[in-house]
Amino acid sequence: MSVDGTRHDDGDTAAASAVPRMSVARVYDYLLGGTDNSAADRFAAEQIKALFPELEDWAWCNRGFHQRAARWLAAEAGITQFLDIGSGLPTQNNTHDVVQAVDPACRVVYVDNDEQVAEQAHRLLSDTGRVSFVHGDLRKPDGILANPDVRAQLDFAQPIGLLMTAVIHFVADELDPWKLVGRYLDALVPGSYLVLSQGTYDKQAPATVERATAIYQNANEQVYPRSKPDVERFFAGLQIVPPYDGAKPDVTFGGLWGAEDPEVADDDASRALYAAVGRKP
Ligand SMILES: C[S@@+](CC[C@H](N)C(=O)[O-])C[C@H]1O[C@@H](n2cnc3c(N)ncnc32)[C@H](O)[C@@H]1O
Repeated sequence: MSVDGTRHDDGDTAAASAVPRMSVARVYDYLLGGTDNSAADRFAAEQIKALFPELEDWAWCNRGFHQRAARWLAAEAGITQFLDIGSGLPTQNNTHDVVQAVDPACRVVYVDNDEQVAEQAHRLLSDTGRVSFVHGDLRKPDGILANPDVRAQLDFAQPIGLLMTAVIHFVADELDPWKLVGRYLDALVPGSYLVLSQGTYDKQAPATVERATAIYQNANEQVYPRSKPDVERFFAGLQIVPPYDGAKPDVTFGGLWGAEDPEVADDDASRALYAAVGRKP
């Protein structure tokens, strides 16, 4: 299968298998204007953009949600500890920059399963005592929750902000991502929060969805877009925070969360991302 999802005949198989794999971390880096990406990543991103022209805006919409929600947890909910799973390649205004600007005592553990993310994070974060990086896979919660670096940085007897933005859509239904998220929440005390965003193709034509999903067949992770009811299930048993002034507590589109002007924030990019913040009672 090639990066565009079309099947090659036998003569093309060798050429197809020689195509370097795209990495979902590097594609995201490219969409955010970063330079830590390869030709395969850029090629794949451009192919998806041909199907969904708002892709870059979608990435920025997600990043904006992540930053607004992290800042809200530190500034409004008094959270000082953060577990950021699927953290991505280090970028400007990363979680620790955002929350330590509110309270320099905030502590952050980043977790990602990508080799390149691990390499860069270890290099860039080595001098910062209140920030750690753990190379781990969110599909193995026991390993992450018991990791000595996680335990050294975070006090699980106190509330923790669990950030899982634009990552759970890389976990297949067969692996029960709802149970996985629940496993992390079970380890947190009441007063902790879940910040989660998830890609959706709810507003796209089925043929577009099929073609976009096929592009990921050459990626290190496959993508599983989900519906609003599917995303609501991640927040079962949590108290959802109203996403903006005057809104009811609900899963919403990414751009709307924390929006000063929800009408301006409501665009096609935002409508391809569900997002919410929930408090563990
Ligand atoms: C689209 S980026 C999102 C980065 C950041 N959370 C954000 O919202 O800006 C997804 C990240 O999740 C990571 N990832 C994907 N599957 C993962 C898994 N099973 N365990 C840990 N990290 C994963 C990827 O390597 C990538 O860095």
